[in-house]
Amino acid sequence: MSPHLLQHPLAAHIITHLRDQTTKPATFRTLAYHLGLLLAIEATRDLATMEKPIHTPLEPVTGRVLSQPLVVVPILRAGLGMVQPFLDLFPDVSVGYIGLERDHHTAIARSYYCKLPPMAGARVIVVDPMLATGGSAVQAIDVVKTAGARDLSFVSIVASPEGIALLQQRHPKVPVFTAACDRELNVQKYILPGLGDFGDRLYGT
Ligand code: PRP
Ligand code: URA
Repeated sequence: MSPHLLQHPLAAHIITHLRDQTTKPATFRTLAYHLGLLLAIEATRDLATMEKPIHTPLEPVTGRVLSQPLVVVPILRAGLGMVQPFLDLFPDVSVGYIGLERDHHTAIARSYYCKLPPMAGARVIVVDPMLATGGSAVQAIDVVKTAGARDLSFVSIVASPEGIALLQQRHPKVPVFTAACDRELNVQKYILPGLGDFGDRLYGT
C-alpha cells in the first residue's frame, strides 16, 4: 500500500521550518505539534461513527459520534512529540508506549520499554516522526500486533524510500501516513534531506 502523503500548504510550510537547522527546540516542538494535528486528522478520516439522536435548541436531529476506541502508541522518545495532538483532538484516547533506540553504529533498534493499554476493537495508531530504515516501525508494529491490535496504522513526519519499502514488505496491510517522502538514507542511515535527529532537536540534546 503506498503511503498517504499529507498534502496541505501548511504542512509544507511547517516541514520547511522543521528542516531548517536554525530552528530552536521550543519552536521545533510547536511546529511538530501543529503538524501532528494535521496528521492526526488525516489518519483518522475513516474512524467508525454511530448515530446519536440529540435535540438542538430548535428541533430533534440524529447526528453521528465517534464509536471506535482510539489508541495512540508513540515510539520513544521522538514519538512523544506527536502525542499531544491526539490527546487534544481525541480526549478519550488511550496511550501506549514503546521504547526503542537505534544503535549508533548498526542503526538497529533495541527495545527498552513497553507499556500498552487494551487494544481489542480499537484503532491503534503507532506514531514516530522519522521512518528511516523502517526497523523501529516494523518492531513496534510487531509488538502491537502481538498485543492484539488488528486495526492499525502508522504515522510519521518524514519517511525514506527504504523505510516505506520495508514497512510495505513486512506489514503490507498497515496504512502509512506521512508529511514528506524524502530522497534516501545516508551511510549513517539518516534521512536526506531530512531534518537531522528528531529526538535531539525536540529535546535539545
Ligand atoms: C529515531 C526515530 C525513530 C528511529 C527511526 O529514534 O525517532 O524511532 O530513529 O529509525 P529507523 O527507521 O532506522 O529505525 P532514535 O533511535 O534516534 O531514538 P530517540 O527517539 O530516543 O532519539
Ligand atoms: N532518526 C532521526 O531522528 N533522523 C533520521 O534521519 C533517522 C533516524
